[in-house]
Amino acid sequence: MRNFTTVHDVPDLDKLLDKALKVKKDPFATSGLGKHRTLGMIFLNPSLRTRMSTQKAAQNLGMNVISMNIDQDGWALELNDGTPMNGKTVEHVREAAAVMGEYCDILAIRCFPNLKNKDEDYGEQILIKFMKYCKKPIISLESATLHPLQSMADLITIKEHSSTRKPKVVLSWAPHIKPLPQAVPNSFAEWMNRSDVEFVITHPEGYELHEDYVKHASVTHDQDAALKDADFVYVKNWSSFSDYGKILSKDESWLINNKKLELTNDAKVMHCLPVRRGIELSDEILDGPSSLVVHQAANRVFAAQTVLTEILEHNFNPNGTAKNF
Ligand code: CP
Repeated sequence: MRNFTTVHDVPDLDKLLDKALKVKKDPFATSGLGKHRTLGMIFLNPSLRTRMSTQKAAQNLGMNVISMNIDQDGWALELNDGTPMNGKTVEHVREAAAVMGEYCDILAIRCFPNLKNKDEDYGEQILIKFMKYCKKPIISLESATLHPLQSMADLITIKEHSSTRKPKVVLSWAPHIKPLPQAVPNSFAEWMNRSDVEFVITHPEGYELHEDYVKHASVTHDQDAALKDADFVYVKNWSSFSDYGKILSKDESWLINNKKLELTNDAKVMHCLPVRRGIELSDEILDGPSSLVVHQAANRVFAAQTVLTEILEHNFNPNGTAKNF
């Protein structure tokens, strides 16, 4: 594995998950693997879990970590070529990413969508330019369209808590007061479509996700039908893809509570966090026995550590030289 920006970067998902479970059992088994290697973590947007879990993962491998809130602490970045830089932008991504590549062996970046221009967001302009100009392995810490470290942690969590061979997993839209990206549901769908699960997506009309991510999932606007016999319910808000970035519904009847869970097969409830209590998910679920939200967050460490391990093993020689670049 050279980069980790989508499930398509993973050649063998089962192998990766087995490795993650081994890493979780013994997180310090390869504590020297990252010695003298530097992970750069670049944030254009806020984070709690991604920042702390990825830093902890790197430290478990003996890596150095440089973290930067580039939107606050760095020079304003220009992404477009040929634009005279006589406005707010001070530094071009061509130089910024190249320089970061000189300081870091692996670069991880968080870059949310603006939710105004679908083509720009789904073109993943920032991520792709960093991959092009940095010339070092890149890890997505959540991009405009995907959040693969979250999805990997989610899949580890499902594996750990599943009591059937092929669980029914339901991705259920939830109301929210702000328009949120489609990155988490897109990514979750990508990973579920590569897994041996019965996968159902339920949302109000107008919230259809991009077909590239929905793929083999069953889609229904009837939440109760979707919840029937579910083993896992993944709750998440997202804004409209077709009416791009818009809120089309705040229908509170979509809020998952204990009454709704009676339809399920004693389902476990998941959410990537942060979550607005009482808006996106009920207190009784978050405080009750069915919630897996903290387990998911805990597994972010082992997802990140496994990905870092894969990249370190496949791209660097033990003597410190890079293998492929
Ligand atoms: N789930 C997640 O990515 O959390 P943060 O935004 O806090 O990193």
